[in-house]
Amino acid sequence: MAIERTLSIIKPDGLEKGVIGKIISRFEEKGLKPVAIRLQQLSQKEAEGFYAVHKARPFFKDLVQFMISGPVVLMVLEGENAVLGNRDIMGATNPAQAAAGTIRKDFATSIDKNTVHGSDSLENAKNEIAYFFRETEIQPYPYQK
Ligand code: RTP
Ligand code: MG
Repeated sequence: MAIERTLSIIKPDGLEKGVIGKIISRFEEKGLKPVAIRLQQLSQKEAEGFYAVHKARPFFKDLVQFMISGPVVLMVLEGENAVLGNRDIMGATNPAQAAAGTIRKDFATSIDKNTVHGSDSLENAKNEIAYFFRETEIQPYPYQK
């Protein structure tokens, strides 16, 4: 398996619930290291651009409104198999269908307030990381490689 990077977002409900630390612990415990972290209030334009792939979907407007309802934590996670590994740690989109021990099972409220975002492919991860971070803002751990 290769060392990969993926974009993780702790959504506004995660901050409201006060579980930033618990969520980051889940990643660290599974070998995914945050190599960039920023707290940010997204603008409507930023959220619309980020979720542009879902523009035609009926839930798009609600998704954007939710993502700008409060600050989020933007993170780049680095580690073996980071893209799919992060998706496993997150659990299914709908927390009602998420497996035991996943972030969404343990913290999410609903399919809308589902606590975390994670890139769903290596290609999307590259684009999503570049959407929010400059390369100089990413600090790889020297002992990881
Ligand atoms: P995310 O992009 O946030 O990591 O979530 P995901 O890959 O698991 O799910 P995705 O299909 O990309 O959908 C993005 C977000 O839109 C909301 N959604 N609502 N009501 C619905 O049927 C529905 N489907 C998706 C969710 O909040 C999902 O995280
Ligand atoms: Mg998605």
